This record gives sequence, structure tokens and C-alpha cells, in this order.
Amino acid sequence: MGAATAAFAGFARGADAPAGPHSLAPLPYAPDALEPHIDAATMGIHHGKHHAAYVAKLNEALQKQSALAGKTLDALMPQIAGVEDAALRTALRNNGGGHWNHTMFWNIMGPAAKAGQPSARLLAKINGAFGSLDAFKKAFADAAVKRFGSGWAWLIVRDGDLKIVSTPNQDNPLMKGLVPDEDAGTPLLCLDVWEHAYYLHYQNRRADYISAWWNVVNWEAVDRRLG
Ligand SMILES: [Fe+2]
Repeated sequence: MGAATAAFAGFARGADAPAGPHSLAPLPYAPDALEPHIDAATMGIHHGKHHAAYVAKLNEALQKQSALAGKTLDALMPQIAGVEDAALRTALRNNGGGHWNHTMFWNIMGPAAKAGQPSARLLAKINGAFGSLDAFKKAFADAAVKRFGSGWAWLIVRDGDLKIVSTPNQDNPLMKGLVPDEDAGTPLLCLDVWEHAYYLHYQNRRADYISAWWNVVNWEAVDRRLG
């Protein structure tokens, strides 16, 4: 493999890259389905290049790690903190997290026309925790705007209560032992605030991206995550 090819292998699985155990599912809608709120070019690169690279690097990290390679992505998340090898732990944290987070992100979004509103049971929980849907949105957007550098904002269930948290890089609330204990829980909603999620269309205007993003939240999918 030449240097140029090797450099590119981080963005697209080369012929010599392991094909599994994890794979990139297609987007659950067309890349232009979220326009004008999230543009097709951003979606295409975000899914086809960035997410694909996390999957490729996760598979690479899991080569010769048969016990970890046999776990589902969900089962892997809380196990990462216990991985002794520091380089492997970091690779799993960044790329396993990247794969898990983006898989959820695609699935809690959808075309604006089908976005709807939170279900009655979810709205009751939101009102109970934050006072109103508007107050929740404001607090969630605030967490997303204030995440320094790259990371995510989350709505989680923790001990039966809803809570807003944010994580750096590709950490997520399932990574027990890696994220602060008070930020661990079951994710209901997530928002990617890495620049790769919005820079093409919104440049430095993260707050504008977040305002527009509410239009493409698939509330039905969020409700299903309540169980
Ligand atoms: Fe991303």
C-alpha cells in the first residue's frame, strides 16, 4: 500500500481492511431527506466517510481480540473501561464510541415532515424534569453549544429520571467507568456537535445548526428508546 493509499484508508475501507465483525448500515433515509436543515453533502460525507472510518478502525482494533470481537456493539460499550491495554482501550473508546453514537444519531432523525412531536408519555417526563418542552430544548441546546471542541449532547434516563449531559469526543453515557458516573445512563436523544456534522453548511454557527436540527428529530424513534 502506498503512502497516499494508506492515508486514505482511514476514510474508506481498503481491500485489505477487516470486513467485520462490525459493519456500516445504510442511512435509514436518503442523504437529502433532512434538507434544508442538514444538507445532503454533509450527510453523505458524515455517514460515508466519517462513520465508515470509525467502523473500519473499530474492526481493525478488534482483530485478534476474539472475546471483545464477539460482543455486540451495545455490549461492548460498558466493557471498554475494563480493557487493560491502553492503546486498545483508546481505539475502542474512540471508534467503538464513534460507531455507536452515529448509529443512534441517524436513527433518531428523519425528514422534517415526519418529525412530529414527543409522545404524551415522553412529554410528561420532559415536563416533569424540565418544566416544559421549550425549557428542555433550551437546556439541551445550551449543553450542545457549550461542549468545548468536539462531542455530543444527550438526553438520558438515569435511575428513572431524565437528564441532559454532554460528552467529549466519541464518549457516550453507556461507557461506564470512562464517563463521570453522573453522566452515565440510557441515551434517548443525541446530537453530534463535531464540526464535521455542520461545518459545510453552517460554518462556525453551531447554534444555528442546533436550532435547525430540532426540525428533523424523529420523536417516534426517541419514544421507542424509552422502552
Ligand atoms: Fe459525527
